[in-house]
Amino acid sequence: MLKIVVMISGGGSNLQAIIDGIAHGVITDAEIVGVISNHKKAYGLERAMEHHIPCQVVSRGDFANQAEFYQALLAAVDGFMPDLIVLAGFLVVLPKDLIVVYRNKIINIHPSLIPAFCGTGYYGLHVHTAALARGVKIAGATVHFVDEGTDTGPIILQKAVEVKAGDTPESLQRRVMEEAEWVILPKAIRMIAKGEV
Ligand code: GAR
Repeated sequence: MLKIVVMISGGGSNLQAIIDGIAHGVITDAEIVGVISNHKKAYGLERAMEHHIPCQVVSRGDFANQAEFYQALLAAVDGFMPDLIVLAGFLVVLPKDLIVVYRNKIINIHPSLIPAFCGTGYYGLHVHTAALARGVKIAGATVHFVDEGTDTGPIILQKAVEVKAGDTPESLQRRVMEEAEWVILPKAIRMIAKGEV
């Protein structure tokens, strides 16, 4: 059984997709052993609690400095003894120690077709605002392993999504989530749990 820790910062719709994927048998041989959020008020925490998944909040504001915050983050992850860490809208740059200790065991969902619209500053709605400003006709999402760079790790899965006339960043974000993120993230976890990656 693959033990998964999901790290979130906000709504947690991708966390929900994983919960549903396990409930509906899309993901087998895996369980979510914990959810870590850097925001106390992240709606994703409510989703986790509804499903009786242990949650932990590690918020930068509760620590005197970045080093102490990072230490607490690493301790929180270690406490769950995960086989896989899933960054599902976790908008904190990970401590280097965590990346080293859990090399090839951390994956991230990014709301674009990497290498487009990724790297520093490209997260959440900003990605879709930039894509529309550039006038791209195809958007999408990527699941990739996390290394020391920002969105630079090996790609596991990608899925393209059509940009439609009149799209706003919000409407495009919603379509990319529905058609790509919530599909490829559970699929990538299933593949990892089955030893196919
Ligand atoms: C998702 O669109 C995810 O791809 C993005 O944040 C959103 C979180 O939504 N992540 C990034 O931009 C990471 N660079 P959610 O909390 O509803 O899953």
